[in-house]
Amino acid sequence: MSAEYRVGVIGLGGRGMGHIHGILTERDDTIVTAVCDVYEDRMQKAVDYCKEKKGWDVAAVPCYRQLIERDDVDVVFVFSAWENHVPAAVYAMECGKQVGIEVGGAYSLDDCWKLVDTYEKTRIHCMMLENCCYDRNEMMVMRMVREGVFGKVVHCEGGYQHDLRSEIAFGEENRHYRLRNYQNRNCENYPTHELGPIAKILDINRGNRMVSLSSMASGAFGLNDFAEKNEKVNPALKTYRFAQGDIVKTNIRCANGELITLTLDTTLPRNYSRNFTVRGTNGYFSEVCNAVYMEHVHGEWDHKFYNNVKEYREQYEHPVWHKFETEGIKGGHGGMDWLVFDAFFEALKNGEVPPIDTYDTAAWMAITPLSEISILNNGAPQDIPDFTRGMWTHRPEWDKNHGFYALDK
Ligand SMILES: NC(=O)c1ccc[n+]([C@@H]2O[C@H](COP(=O)([O-])OP(=O)(O)OC[C@H]3O[C@@H](n4cnc5c(N)ncnc54)[C@H](O)[C@@H]3O)[C@@H](O)[C@H]2O)c1
Repeated sequence: MSAEYRVGVIGLGGRGMGHIHGILTERDDTIVTAVCDVYEDRMQKAVDYCKEKKGWDVAAVPCYRQLIERDDVDVVFVFSAWENHVPAAVYAMECGKQVGIEVGGAYSLDDCWKLVDTYEKTRIHCMMLENCCYDRNEMMVMRMVREGVFGKVVHCEGGYQHDLRSEIAFGEENRHYRLRNYQNRNCENYPTHELGPIAKILDINRGNRMVSLSSMASGAFGLNDFAEKNEKVNPALKTYRFAQGDIVKTNIRCANGELITLTLDTTLPRNYSRNFTVRGTNGYFSEVCNAVYMEHVHGEWDHKFYNNVKEYREQYEHPVWHKFETEGIKGGHGGMDWLVFDAFFEALKNGEVPPIDTYDTAAWMAITPLSEISILNNGAPQDIPDFTRGMWTHRPEWDKNHGFYALDK
């Protein structure tokens, strides 16, 4: 198939270059025509890579607005630092360009409303490329929930639990945005890896909605300690008063009675885990225990139900993963990166709303500024806006995604 979509890429750090390597130069329906970064060397690296691998002549454009305005760019991908996501996405929508953004939280509720207002004005959606919605367990559990395996779902839990001390502490050397964020903000800064799949499971924005949240944060000790123990880290960080607490817990109440608990845990020693947990009246899925428990099947709970997820793969594997396994898993992060781009392009080709639409993007990103206010106010509850303006109760058929990669009922 010849290339159909001329892609402009904003942000050429770890993720941007990763997507150029693993996705955008691997798909047969994309051609990268322009790239943008504030660093010249990163643009040059991307230009050289595309030339060498595909023979493409890619333009290097230091200003993201100029990249978006180009006639040879149909689709804009925003893989830049968090601060640039909303400005770039809104400008792309205003210029009539399709847009996908990498994950991250917003800086204000106004920014989330800007996304929604711009969609409603332009009818171009901003899809958050939340790859974890397409991971294997998350998709399998979504299917199990839809088939009623766990009964009424009551509590979902998840976390971004990833030791990022080195990435943050070497932020100056690596020119990485996380350092300045941890220095200046205290919030649930990365809610969507766990919230995205949970929101889909709970039909958020399509029959359900997040109503209010409360967040609390521990103090910030991990990064000072890390700087103390590592002589290569800038010594000023040993005593720097970081704003970001090591652990942030957020509880979210939903309209249909469910509770969601999120954990941010990125500056203490630990293994990687998203602690994906779904609890219902008839059983649960637990990533940490690698367990499925169904009361009507298993009877009384027993330790033997640990590590039994593989027994349910065949029966409950999501069709997307059946196909993916058969055809050969591709792309980073175990394949979920590839799938989220498949989902983006499928919606574009079918002229449908994306499976993660602008209302989802805005609602998920809003957790960050709301958590910041709640933490500042001793965990005071914060109302979560209804970005659908009442449509969550009755989203019409034409406002849903019906494709193979659909995440809704
Ligand atoms: N989905 C995932 O699994 C996953 C994994 C890692 C990172 N991410 C996300 O990807 C994004 C990028 O993360 P990263 O680790 O690659 O960061 P990075 O710092 O390595 O890269 C970000 C790049 O954006 C550039 N940039 C910043 N502001 C810009 C602007 N105004 N115009 C043009 N370029 C700009 C920076 O110069 C940098 O090169 C973040 O949103 C992050 O949350 C997602």
